[in-house]
Amino acid sequence: MENYMEMKFSALVKNVSFARGTVASFLVEQDLTLNIVNEIKTIVSEAVTNAIVHGYQSDPTELVFMSLKLEKGKLIITVQDTGVGIVDIKQAREPLFSTREDEDRAGLGFTIMDIFSDSVEVLSEVGKGTTVICTKMIE
Ligand SMILES: Nc1ncnc2c1ncn2[C@@H]1O[C@H](COP(=O)(O)OP(=O)(O)O)[C@@H](O)[C@H]1O
Ligand SMILES: [Mg+2]
Repeated sequence: MENYMEMKFSALVKNVSFARGTVASFLVEQDLTLNIVNEIKTIVSEAVTNAIVHGYQSDPTELVFMSLKLEKGKLIITVQDTGVGIVDIKQAREPLFSTREDEDRAGLGFTIMDIFSDSVEVLSEVGKGTTVICTKMIE
């Protein structure tokens, strides 16, 4: 069954759990295993955290966009910010690469998204922002 939603929320770290809860609610009628739902929540956490912490450097006046689309047995998660953008996308996606190794950033966000998704697309332009599109088969 096809389904779609989108939302915008303030770039506050506490909204990571709001986004996780939203994706879980969106999928509640899908009869998925707890394991799959946890993987999807983890994808959302990593993408949304990056938008807030890196894209917007935690400026709460900025807005994170998230959309969820169910079609043909797959879930497409889009997380977008209009923040600083990524200078070198290939390098950013490498395991353990982080521009902020302070405060608990392990440099594994993209790696985790890759592991739990079937495909991850990163579009970014310096000074314009970043869009991350993760696709996961759910059937
Ligand atoms: N939305 C974003 N906007 C700007 N830079 C980003 C964004 N997402 C990721 N990055 C860059 O990619 C790097 C790697 O991201 P990630 O793998 O999640 O590791 P971490 O968040 O632990 O640094 C970040 O350190 C940051 O430099
Ligand atoms: Mg990260």
